[in-house]
Amino acid sequence: MLDAAGITDPVRRAEVDSLLAAEPELPAVIHALDGGYVRPAPGGDLLRTTEVLPTGRNLHGFDPFRLPSAFAMRDGARQADRLLARHAEDGKGLPRTVAMVLWGTDNLKSEGGPIAQALWLMGAEPRSDSYGRICGATLVPLERLGRPRIDVVLTVSGIFRDLLPLQTKLLAEAALLAARADEAPELNFVRAHALAFQAEHGGDIARAALRVFGNADGAYGSNVNQMVGSGVWENEDELADAYVARKGFAYGLSGTPERHDAVLSDILKNVDVTYQNLDSVELGVTTVDHYFDTLGGISRAVRRARGGTAAGVYIGDQTRGDGAVRSLAEQVALETRTRTLNPKWYEALLKHGYEGVREIDAHVTNTLGWSATTGEVSPWVYQRLAETYVLDDDMRERIASLNPKASAKIANRLIEAHDRNYWQPDDATLDALRRAGEELEDRLEGITVEMAA
Ligand code: BEZ
Ligand code: MG
Repeated sequence: MLDAAGITDPVRRAEVDSLLAAEPELPAVIHALDGGYVRPAPGGDLLRTTEVLPTGRNLHGFDPFRLPSAFAMRDGARQADRLLARHAEDGKGLPRTVAMVLWGTDNLKSEGGPIAQALWLMGAEPRSDSYGRICGATLVPLERLGRPRIDVVLTVSGIFRDLLPLQTKLLAEAALLAARADEAPELNFVRAHALAFQAEHGGDIARAALRVFGNADGAYGSNVNQMVGSGVWENEDELADAYVARKGFAYGLSGTPERHDAVLSDILKNVDVTYQNLDSVELGVTTVDHYFDTLGGISRAVRRARGGTAAGVYIGDQTRGDGAVRSLAEQVALETRTRTLNPKWYEALLKHGYEGVREIDAHVTNTLGWSATTGEVSPWVYQRLAETYVLDDDMRERIASLNPKASAKIANRLIEAHDRNYWQPDDATLDALRRAGEELEDRLEGITVEMAA
């Protein structure tokens, strides 16, 4: 943790080390239940803000009227420019439309960094009232922006919608202001697309400029993760449809979600890039199933809307240094090498017994989730996962004895990846994998029968 937080000063290191070692949370809960006072403390990411320590205090997340902060606006502009530079480096010029996923927690941890990126892509910034509180959006003049306004379609998480209603409106207002701006369409892609939509479908500009989408009130997630986890889907278009059904509620200036399917499908057709930030080394895109649920889901929805042609999928990694933009294929390869296939990682996990194996199974499933939603996982990833966890006799025995159920799932998931054509192992490998899968299933069945008896 100390290394990941980049704390080098020995005195501060020792301080933070002892704060991390303390366990003040349960005593604080008991104190609160006794009717005692629990002091407030800032919330946020431990690695960015060690002031959150000691834990066991009454954390307050943020001031909604200061988000995104001035710092986030400066950093957000740099990160957004990095995405545009990477897109150009990949020989694809300037994107006209970016589909960006926004989570709540990431924005709390970074003072609204991802919101700031979205605003900068559109060429907008927050507007404040006479008390200095953020109350809406305003456009950055094109001369200052120095490039056309990029069209941005946002899908916000349920948590974002719950925590950040003001920011949800601010983003909707930014898109509407851009669509209404008296500017040449070749310098303003939001306006160009909104006018084209109006010409084809009629209606007012407020509808044509809807760019913030999310769940219905009270709903969370796209269900793509549930479908992949349970394996009950046949073709990838079903994942795209689930995403649009769950996440296709438009949030305009009223703040009340409404379906506007014609607008959404029109915008999705225009998307060149899908993009999400990664804000902490604690989590990667293969660690939890929410990344492929959100970024994977929108990527598949875009591909379906574009008649099968995928958009580029990128990750903005701001976990260290100035940040880096990676293609999803690069990100999955990096995490596979540094985590899932790294003995330092899995040996440490296996010390946690059954839970360690469950965690490995989750990484394998999440990897398949990325194949299903983006097709950006290289076949070597599955080959090496199979060799490491299933085809290696010692390892197979170790994980089977720690967690027979998760071990059988790992083998079956790799076979599923083959059945779905995400890798093509040679016959010998496939046979060995199937035999190992059956052996693990038999073992699991044996235990279940024993337990029932
Ligand atoms: C969020 O903060 O919005 C979020 C966190 C975890 C999973 C999905 C969304
Ligand atoms: Mg905890």
